[in-house]
Amino acid sequence: MVTKDTAITAPQRLLAPLTECGWARHVAGAAEAQAIVSEIGRMGDLLGRRTAGRGGALEEFVRPRTADHAHPRSLSARYGLNALPFHAELSHRPRPCRYLLLGCIEPGSPSAVTMLLDWRTLGFSPDELHLLEGAPILVRTGRRSFYSTILSPDRAFLRYDPGCLEAVDERGQAALRLVEHRLTGGSPEVHRWRQGDILVIDNWRVLHGRGPTDQGSGRRLARVLIDA
Ligand SMILES: [Fe+2]
Repeated sequence: MVTKDTAITAPQRLLAPLTECGWARHVAGAAEAQAIVSEIGRMGDLLGRRTAGRGGALEEFVRPRTADHAHPRSLSARYGLNALPFHAELSHRPRPCRYLLLGCIEPGSPSAVTMLLDWRTLGFSPDELHLLEGAPILVRTGRRSFYSTILSPDRAFLRYDPGCLEAVDERGQAALRLVEHRLTGGSPEVHRWRQGDILVIDNWRVLHGRGPTDQGSGRRLARVLIDA
């Protein structure tokens, strides 16, 4: 039973590490897939409103895909089972989702790590931030492709996903190269999944990537995306 007390403290327990470092780890109360999905859904509901991923579902299951079996504009279509580069989830939307919740149904063997990196730790100078918020880039998302910038005008989020961003001029090229270069030199947190692990990621602040994996590893994560 959820007491009044836990109802008050649960969001605070979640928000403290999120505010401090941009992500939080939690362990699900039960190991069954449906229980983990329900738990990340409940946690997500504390933070905002669920939004559908590329497949159109509010709750998704993510497994490593070969390039042939991936969504044509996804990172897996380009990188397959190799490491997936750092990115912000839903960078192809005008406003990427605020939070990303991942729950480990099955770590798989070999298991693939998730890497987390706060873009504010990448040491962008004022001039570089100016470039990131000013250089136009094309966000490719089929018929709804649009022009935008890597850094939002209010500097609230960094839009970055090598799978859908394209430079349209030299400034855009320089901006994309700059982010790629800084990410390569960054010091990410590396998360090794265990069944029942839940990560809550502030997607506006912390970029995520995946280590390399094998076909048929059995890795399976549940994913919920939150607008807030
Ligand atoms: Fe992702």
